Amino acid sequence: MTTIDTDPDTGLDPLEFAVTRNLAAKSNADRDAILASPGFGQSFTDHMVDICWSVRGGWHRPRVSPYGPISLDPAAAVLHYGQEIFEGIKAYRHADGSVHTFRPDQNGRRLQRSARRLALPELPVPYFLQSLRELIAVDGAWVPSGEDQSLYLRPFMFAKEAFLGVRPAHKVAYYLIASPAGAYFKGGVKPVSIWLSEDYSRAGKGGTGAAKTGGNYAASLLPQSEAYENECDQVVFLDQDRNVEELGGMNVVFVYKDGSIVTPQSDSILEGITRDSLLQLARDRGHHVEGRNVPLTEWREGVASGDIVEVFACGTAAVVTPIGTLKGRDFIDEQPSGTLALELREELTNIQYGRAEDKHGWLYRLDA
Ligand code: PLP
Ligand code: COI
Repeated sequence: MTTIDTDPDTGLDPLEFAVTRNLAAKSNADRDAILASPGFGQSFTDHMVDICWSVRGGWHRPRVSPYGPISLDPAAAVLHYGQEIFEGIKAYRHADGSVHTFRPDQNGRRLQRSARRLALPELPVPYFLQSLRELIAVDGAWVPSGEDQSLYLRPFMFAKEAFLGVRPAHKVAYYLIASPAGAYFKGGVKPVSIWLSEDYSRAGKGGTGAAKTGGNYAASLLPQSEAYENECDQVVFLDQDRNVEELGGMNVVFVYKDGSIVTPQSDSILEGITRDSLLQLARDRGHHVEGRNVPLTEWREGVASGDIVEVFACGTAAVVTPIGTLKGRDFIDEQPSGTLALELREELTNIQYGRAEDKHGWLYRLDA
């Protein structure tokens, strides 16, 4: 059990996790075979973390257990009304063997904001951080050391109360699982093609677009299939006023010829931590950075006139990916190619993997 002091900000004492080791844990050879070519989201580590919550008992029964199926009552509210949220964050192995994650306080706070919107309880950030450390304490060997590899951590929370009335559940579970990860897109970093979703939206004003909740991703699946049918890799969504929102799982960033950088910002878009970090690195280089509405017409006309010189997408899973093509029902716009996206990607990953100075104090050590 990791020793953690009382949290100075919240006064919370650390939880005491009951740890049950997985007696059927993968052998070193089997694990190494998976880590040699992990793909994305396909294999899972030997353990998982869970913490229960109830109206009466608050957060209780913190556990580290063998990874395995979750037993749920068929009436569990999440199965009927989708009261669920999740996060995505990575653990990186540094050259000296140590394991670090990146801005986990931001993920912890975003999980709290998502919880508020979905009427779920807010997991205190110190408990969130401790859950990451507890899992690494037992599954640290699963953090790969190959180039661009990481251990993708997936915290999630759902309504487990067996009750069919429509109200916030009185019993909730928080879980953390982990999955070794290589490149999110097959073929590594190459420009992606984007399908413009005209018939379907992902979020609405006052809806759940800014929360990381399963329903948003469920809503993106049919338009994503439409993207594949049109030979595109990803889908981009518009809001009701035809402003650009984001991709199914990534934010969008535009680079202008005067060096300024603009990204769509509204209460229907997920506030990406990768985006926030890249924009900080761009500010450090002297770029002017702005979050505002970006009408689709501004994108298309900006590319046509040469005002927009680069467009890229970013998120934890895919890191940074240049956008090569925007395709709609009756047009194909080739996107200009620049160097900033890949330079910022390199700068960010150098910090994450401990190859460059962490000037902003973004790294958080998980294995000590
Ligand atoms: N937008 C959506 C819909 C996402 O799923 C993600 C990925 O988590 C992002 C944006 C980027 O967020 P982050 O950089 O925090 O991973
Ligand atoms: C992430 O980047 O962490 C995501 O959640 C995107 C996708 C895998 C859902």
